[in-house]
Amino acid sequence: MQLNNFDTAAFLRDYWQKRPLLIRNPWRSWHNPLTPDELAGLACEDHVESRLITQSSDDWNAEHGPLPEARFGELGRTPWTLLVQAVDHHVPDVAALIAPFRFIPNWRIDDVMVSYASDGGGAGPHFDHYDVFLVQGLGQRRWQIGGMCDDQTALRQHEDLLLLANFEAVEEWVLNPGDMLYIPPGIAHNGIAVGTDCMTYSIGFRSPSRKELIGHWCDDLLPGLGDDDRYRDPDMTLQDNPGEIPAMALDRLHAMIMEKLADRAEFARWFGEYSSTPRYPETNWSPEQPIEAEHLRHLLKSDQMLFRNPASRFSFVREDDRSLLLFVDGECFPCEDEAASFAEILCAQDKFVIDPEWRTSDAAIKLLAKLYNRGSLSFDWG
Ligand code: SIN
Ligand code: CO
Repeated sequence: MQLNNFDTAAFLRDYWQKRPLLIRNPWRSWHNPLTPDELAGLACEDHVESRLITQSSDDWNAEHGPLPEARFGELGRTPWTLLVQAVDHHVPDVAALIAPFRFIPNWRIDDVMVSYASDGGGAGPHFDHYDVFLVQGLGQRRWQIGGMCDDQTALRQHEDLLLLANFEAVEEWVLNPGDMLYIPPGIAHNGIAVGTDCMTYSIGFRSPSRKELIGHWCDDLLPGLGDDDRYRDPDMTLQDNPGEIPAMALDRLHAMIMEKLADRAEFARWFGEYSSTPRYPETNWSPEQPIEAEHLRHLLKSDQMLFRNPASRFSFVREDDRSLLLFVDGECFPCEDEAASFAEILCAQDKFVIDPEWRTSDAAIKLLAKLYNRGSLSFDWG
């Protein structure tokens, strides 16, 4: 799938992380990839994260899935919306919606959330910390855009929903099927269904906070640090006031931390593992019987399509001309020469036919077998 009349370089330069952009139907022919019934079915499943938001007068109520099937029959005339997370992990045609956005690196891509709303329904005025492309799938939705928000922005008192206490629309558009709206992080927005059968696909991106990076990396570093790696001061001299923590001591203490945190190579390895860890590891594609290298060689000969597990994240960090670190599902696979070139192919697309020439590369077959047997790749999806 490709977007028509969409200049990715101009988009990155002028809009990405900067300002909203309305894009009227950029698809060659828009086809809604999922029915409302199929979405409701997913919300009833155990391993799928979903929320049902109902509105009555000025009150908002949120219920978390899995929802009992009968719940949909009980919904009255008051506006409601169903939000289902990571639908791309379950529906190949929804996963295909990510393809046109692959100009954004894999490590920044999150998942596709799908919403269904009854007339007047919506998630309420809010802001997200992430970039999002909101693609109108079915029916119509009025999108209102407000100003820039941050941690200081006043929120309504609600235990489950982060709704803005004050929302003033500065611009609004009604989106028809196939239309899409890009919203950068922090921009207030409010989407209200116009008529019934409103479905919206949110292609969401991730960006770690400093708090998350420091917290998680330090958690990872701690087990490797021993008790005997400790502050020492054999050069201590007399000081005027024993109450002072001298600058030299502070410098040395601070350096103990900074030296460790300045290790770029260690950080790269940790970040690759951390950012490739799947959020929903339930999408298990591991084969019942591990595949043998010889069988894999044979399958490559027959030009079979290979799929990346949609829950798996594939990225790499280049080390030098010959080597890179491949990261898949929280694991690091150091690759050299042929294996490194092969790893680049695996990271570039989410489905591919591997050139049969790779059959002769033991390194490529070995890597493929490892990834296949841990369920990160499969010949069978969709
Ligand atoms: C929706 O699809 O209703 C909500 C999407 C969003 O505002 O992030
Ligand atoms: Co939002």
